[in-house]
Amino acid sequence: MLNRRNFLTAAVGVAAATGLAACAKKDEGGSTGSGGGDGKIVLGFSQVGSESGWRSANTDSVKEAAKEAGYNLKFSDAQQKQENQISAIRSYITQGVDVIAFSPVVVTGWDAVLKEAKAKKIPVVLTDRSVETSDESLYVTLVGSDFTDEGRRAGKILEKVLEKAGHKGPVKIAQLEGTTGAAPAIERAKGFKEVMDADHADDWKIVVSQTGDFTRAGGKQVMAAFLQSNPDIDVLFAHNDDMGIGAIQAIEAAGKKPGKDILIVTVDGVKDGFIAMSEGKINAIVECNPLLGPQLMEVVKKVKNGETVERWIKTKEGDFMQDQAKAALPSRKY
Ligand code: AHR
Repeated sequence: MLNRRNFLTAAVGVAAATGLAACAKKDEGGSTGSGGGDGKIVLGFSQVGSESGWRSANTDSVKEAAKEAGYNLKFSDAQQKQENQISAIRSYITQGVDVIAFSPVVVTGWDAVLKEAKAKKIPVVLTDRSVETSDESLYVTLVGSDFTDEGRRAGKILEKVLEKAGHKGPVKIAQLEGTTGAAPAIERAKGFKEVMDADHADDWKIVVSQTGDFTRAGGKQVMAAFLQSNPDIDVLFAHNDDMGIGAIQAIEAAGKKPGKDILIVTVDGVKDGFIAMSEGKINAIVECNPLLGPQLMEVVKKVKNGETVERWIKTKEGDFMQDQAKAALPSRKY
């Protein structure tokens, strides 16, 4: 992704964008002032949807953190549709919120609406996912994970999984991709491929790869089709736990043992993923932390106050092998 690759470590000043954002604006109810007259920061947040356990945890984190911070949160769920997100953002612009935050369902197609926000001096903070834009000034910062690195980590942890399983010879890999055009789908695939190309050009091969749209139902359906066309798959790399869990159902329905006949690496680290891993059905999980709410609220406040923030605020995450699952499960927060 353009913006992630060109990650700017330099901090960017946002005073210009926020100075006017703090000026009096009309909200839907006709009251003026940033906060609708009660002094609270008004944050318009457009969520991707409710496609996965990760997303539910992310939504809860944002809502709880906004409450904790005393913000007036305007929240909308786009049901994984870009047009819904664009309408929500337009509505936040009309309402004159102080700051707009959103987790873009796909990377492209945002310039027009972001320009509208900029014209109204409303700063935009990206959370979780990035966008591709020709004008970097259209958003202030991204609070979220390094998905390319998650893909690389998945590749590296697969080496350990194969070694532990005593797998020798060529490795036939099935990949369940996230939503087509979404940053985590593009970047996780890219990072994983980097490891393949660099270290396993001769022995690893992706034999099938298709989107499961980050959902359990999608994972199950696509994995069932994979098994029809490629019954001898050795490994499944699923871009999230939910698709991995759906795939496990398809693998079992086909009379195979997930985690043994087909080795499975997923991304996220939600509780259900850890449960499947503690049952021996997932071999390793690359964590992607959804608890972005507190960091987001901190950034929103800084942006509103015209303070300087980093261009990309990254999230700390870990990797887990199957033998760590039982011990880690009780302390999983999501
Ligand atoms: O953008 C983060 C991804 O979106 C998560 O990995 C996935 O579960 C979610 O739907």
